[in-house]
Amino acid sequence: MTRASRDKVVAVAGATGAVGEVLLRVLEERAFPVAELRPLASERSAGAVVRFRGTDHRVEVARPAALDGADFVFFAATGTLSKELAPEAAERGAVAIDKSSTWRMTEGVPLVVPTRSTGTGGSSRVRTARRSPSSWCSRRCTVRPASRASW
Ligand SMILES: NC(=O)c1ccc[n+]([C@@H]2O[C@H](COP(=O)([O-])OP(=O)(O)OC[C@H]3O[C@@H](n4cnc5c(N)ncnc54)[C@H](OP(=O)(O)O)[C@@H]3O)[C@@H](O)[C@H]2O)c1
Repeated sequence: MTRASRDKVVAVAGATGAVGEVLLRVLEERAFPVAELRPLASERSAGAVVRFRGTDHRVEVARPAALDGADFVFFAATGTLSKELAPEAAERGAVAIDKSSTWRMTEGVPLVVPTRSTGTGGSSRVRTARRSPSSWCSRRCTVRPASRASW
């Protein structure tokens, strides 16, 4: 099975926070093909659990090694953490998606504007314009439209 075709290893930095919690619920609701979920946070929450698809998942400290083998890394923590770890995620071949404003105005960093599919094919759009909802990705990574039909 190729990396593209298998279910995904998904890390969520900031999984214990307000945005991280919503993100987990969205991944559930949209049946995102998660093979492995890695909830990450600061040392304060290490060892805590978050609920995902009816199962408790233990929270680990967000550090580079926690990103090994990840396909997607969502950043819903601090801008400082995004700045430090998003390049680490990209170095490991993951798609990094940042909810902070850290990379919003950075040249060469794609901005993804997820829209819900209204029909059959998944009509999400990817834009490179500034002043859009923030997302981060290295120049080498692939941007996936955020619609279920397109995962
Ligand atoms: N709230 C919104 O409506 C909203 C909307 C869009 C975007 N955002 C952006 O999303 C991000 C999160 O916002 P939030 O409202 O969810 O904040 P929050 O509720 O305070 O949650 C922050 C999360 O980041 C983690 N964190 C903080 N410092 C960390 C560190 N040094 N290393 C690893 N993890 C760390 C926290 O983990 P611990 O449990 O260990 O503290 C927690 O999981 C921010 O960048 C914010 O600007 C927020």
